[in-house]
Amino acid sequence: MLETLKQEVEQLRSAAESECISAGSSKQCEALRVKYLGRNGLVQPLLHALKGVPSEHKAAAGKLVNELKNELQQRLEQTLERLKRAEQDLQLGREALDVTLPGRPLPAGRLHLITQVLEELYGIFGEMGFQVFQTREVEDDLMNFQLLNIPPDHPARDMHDTFYTTTPGVVLRTHTSPGQIHLMRQRCPEPIRAVLPGKCYRFEQTDASHEWMFYQIEGLVVGQDITLADLKGTLRAFVRRTFGAEREVQFRCSYFTFTEPSMEVAMSDGRGGWLEILGSGMVHPVVLKNGGYDPQRYTGFAFGMGVERVAMLKYGIDDIRQFYANDLRFLQQF
Ligand code: DAH
Repeated sequence: MLETLKQEVEQLRSAAESECISAGSSKQCEALRVKYLGRNGLVQPLLHALKGVPSEHKAAAGKLVNELKNELQQRLEQTLERLKRAEQDLQLGREALDVTLPGRPLPAGRLHLITQVLEELYGIFGEMGFQVFQTREVEDDLMNFQLLNIPPDHPARDMHDTFYTTTPGVVLRTHTSPGQIHLMRQRCPEPIRAVLPGKCYRFEQTDASHEWMFYQIEGLVVGQDITLADLKGTLRAFVRRTFGAEREVQFRCSYFTFTEPSMEVAMSDGRGGWLEILGSGMVHPVVLKNGGYDPQRYTGFAFGMGVERVAMLKYGIDDIRQFYANDLRFLQQF
């Protein structure tokens, strides 16, 4: 009796052992546990059989079966642990981070072309002793027009249809020229040599050469004995420094309310033609007076140009709307 039991225990032990060795996953191992130790498992009949063992062998038989049960339990636990660890290693291997992979480059931003051109212009005028003076974009009618010699019904207003705010008389500036008045009032009676850059607004039908928002850069020089020769020398130097030493510069008679005399400046295009670049003139005595300077003692010259226009001429851009269309294919070229 005991012998048969021993044999059966031995068989179960070696069968379980070889199954534990060949188990390939924690799932299979769990199935083995059920197969051997579960409620209907293979060890169960042996436990039942103990009842029928004669009492003198009971103790020995019980020991045999209990030992087998404990051993199997231990063995299965070990196997489960081993398989779980292997599965975890595999998982970690699959999720491994390869730190040697090159990173994805972050796209770097850049300065907008207009900002680049403005900075270049500051550099060129800076070398000629000009300071940069920033002034406001929201003005009133007095500053934007009247103090610049453009009274309410003056036909010069036709070219400056602006955006009016809901506050009567408050407008978005149509040009940087009102900055002349701010600057003169701030500096009088000191001499002035400054450029005034910034955004301007006009109520325009947009097309290839008109935008409702654009940049201008204004120049203002005020002092004693400032003459037309200073204006011509300065602007000729500016044009050649900005567009090339080979450029011819032409000064043509023009009309602005805030300068007298007034001139348009054009440069040679290298093919026998002329390209207009800016407006300029000697500061009108009334404007000097509005800025606080005595026109009997002080004179000055002023000029104003569109920054987009400078950029268009420099880089061969044929449509002003490109600047603010936010098309990266355009912007990334500069
Ligand atoms: N303010 C003028 C405009 O927007 C441009 C201009 C012309 C400015 C002549 C000046 C100047 O300072 O002297 O059309």
